Parts: sequence; structure tokens; C-alpha cells
Amino acid sequence: MNLLDAIGTKETLVCIGPGGVGKTTSAAAVGLMLANTGRKVCVLTIDPARRLASALGLDRVDNEPVLASEDLPNYWVAMLDPKQTFDAMIRRYSSSSQQEDEIIANPVYRNLVTRLSGTQEYMAFERLWELRESQRFDTIIVDTPPAQAAIDFLHAPSRLAGFLDNRIFKFMLKPPPLYLRPIAMATRGLIKQIASVVGAEVVNDTMSFFQAFSGIEDGFRERALMTSELLASQATSYLLVSSPASDALAAGSRMVGLLRGIGHQVDSVLVNRMTPTYAAYPRDPGAPPEAKEDLMRLTQMRTHQQLVIDGWGKELGLEGWYYLEDLATDVSNLAALAEVAAAMEQCTLVPFQVAE
Ligand SMILES: Nc1ncnc2c1ncn2[C@@H]1O[C@H](COP(=O)(O)OP(=O)(O)OP(=O)(O)O)[C@@H](O)[C@H]1O
Ligand SMILES: [Mg+2]
Repeated sequence: MNLLDAIGTKETLVCIGPGGVGKTTSAAAVGLMLANTGRKVCVLTIDPARRLASALGLDRVDNEPVLASEDLPNYWVAMLDPKQTFDAMIRRYSSSSQQEDEIIANPVYRNLVTRLSGTQEYMAFERLWELRESQRFDTIIVDTPPAQAAIDFLHAPSRLAGFLDNRIFKFMLKPPPLYLRPIAMATRGLIKQIASVVGAEVVNDTMSFFQAFSGIEDGFRERALMTSELLASQATSYLLVSSPASDALAAGSRMVGLLRGIGHQVDSVLVNRMTPTYAAYPRDPGAPPEAKEDLMRLTQMRTHQQLVIDGWGKELGLEGWYYLEDLATDVSNLAALAEVAAAMEQCTLVPFQVAE
């Protein structure tokens, strides 16, 4: 089994993993590898750090997919812009342009878009959904931000659905029935109190936001359910990227656990930046003795990494792993990325050794 066989026909590939291990690089390289097989690929990064652009040697990457290079007609890249995506979503579900304008101009909305934790993750989903629905691509590869945020990303649709079902939210959206009027009066009293603390303007903005939002939440809820289904589908695959460092592996196993907790399985594990193996010790009789010592040390390090990863994977009950070796330089242009993609094509599954 090689990595290409494992993921070659998936429609959506979600790359997760701890910070700094090479998720963005791997997502970009997987994309290039698949594009080389003739599939039309889009790598969607939700990492605002702009690493995808720099890995490709591009100035910038935007919400709208662009070709990474004119020479690669199948290889598209995009970087999530949560505000643009949210605005588009409001536009889609608003019943009139007046409703649309009211929401987009509301300060609470603007705050929600930029500050609310989880908005970015939720919008990533929306964007993923839009790109899937457009049927422009055979495979979409999602490059997530580090660890916790990635799990937030996977939680986002159900969290939004929960928020929309929230009673207070509903209460604000709909005029209360007669028998609830006393509660509504009490709420008004409460709102006055809140207003005295945060300021009447904030409260007014919030109330008018919820009023303007009325009717849109059904569309949002429906979309949240559909994205949850997309994530759980067989056509979606999860690739855990880690480095051989023990803290990265520990963070990786926490992520595997969290993912399992919400019903998703890690399908493949890629350990990036393994210490390279060197085919032979220097035969140059004039080589200084330190050179031989250095190589022995590296070989020991590699053996140690393999043992640690093997124990780690067995404990997690995973089938096996793929690896990439550490390259001598950073990956910051298409040529270097093509090298990673070529190495990736050679990746074969290393089964975790089952203990006797
Ligand atoms: N196999 C490799 N050999 C050498 N350098 C690598 C390799 N893989 C990644 N790098 C380098 O490691 C750095 C981090 O990679 P990358 O940005 O892909 O990690 P990340 O997991 O996406 O980070 P973050 O969690 O911050 O999003 C980059 O400078 C990249 O060029
Ligand atoms: Mg990244």
C-alpha cells in the first residue's frame, strides 16, 4: 500500500496535526502529487499565516482559487477569507437585499465575523462546502491551523447548529407568545440592566442584529448539517501529519482521540522530517573521525525515532505510517515542493509491528 493508493480517489482530504510539523507543506505536496496524476485539485488553507503562498513561492493566495503555476493546469490553491465567505453566506440566505445590507452593516455582525472564536473554522467549512458544490475539483485538500483550532474546525458545524437551537437565541428572534409575555417583560428589565453596563448602543445593535438575522438561521442550520455529513462521509479522509519529536507525537495522539470522540477516524499518518538515513559511511580514508561519529549518531537517532513511532502507533491502534525525510532546506518554491511531492509518491505504508 502506498500513500497515493490510500488517498488517490478521495474527494476531500483534511490535514491535521500539531503546530509547525509541516501540515501546510504536506497539504501542498499531496495536492501536487494528486494533480500530477491528472486529478483537478484545490488546496484550501485556513491558516492565516500565509504559509501556503510562501511554500509555493507566490506573493499571495486568496479566497478564490488560483492556479499555483501556469504550467500546472490541475493545481489550484486558495486561502480562506472568513469575512468574504460569511458575507457571501449572508447574501445567499437573506430574503431581500435590505436584510442583507442590514446584517452586513451591523456592528455586531462585523464583530462576530472577526472576533468570535470558531467563526473562522465555521467559514472554512462553508468554503469547503461551496467549493465541493461547485464541482470544479476532483479533490479538495484542507490545510488546517495547528491542533486545537483544527479540532474546533471539525466541531464547528455542530456547534453552530447548537447555537441556533439555543433558547435565548430563539427567544430573541421571535415575538413571544402571550403566555410568555411576563417573561418577555422580565427580559426587557434584564436587557435594561445589561444596557446600563455595556451601553445601550451595544444592546440595540445586538437586538437589531438578531432581528435582522431572522429567517436566515434555517439556511445556516441546514448547511451545518450538510457539512457534518460531508465530514463523516467515506469520500472524506483524514491525514494526521506529525514530526518524530515526542511532544508532536503526544499532541498527535490527543488529536486522534479528539477526532474519534466526534466520530472520525485518522485514515493515514504521515511523519514528516524524519532524520535521513545515509546509505554508507564515508569511505574516504582521509575523512576525519568526527564525520563517521556524526553519521553514527544520526543513524542511532533514526533508529530511535522508528522505535518511538512504532510504540506510539501500536498504542493508538493505527495500522501503519508513511514518512518523509528532513530535507536540507526549507520548502519555499514550487521546485522544492515538487521534490517533496516526488518523495511522497514513493511513500509506502510501514506497518506498526504487532508485539509478540
Ligand atoms: N520535509 C521537510 N524538510 C525540510 N523542511 C521542511 C519539511 N517539511 C516542512 N519543512 C519546513 O518546516 C517549516 C514549517 O512547515 P509548515 O509551515 O508546512 O508547517 P505547519 O505544520 O503548517 O505549521 P503551522 O502549524 O504553523 O501551520 C517550513 O519552513 C517548511 O519549509
Ligand atoms: Mg500551516
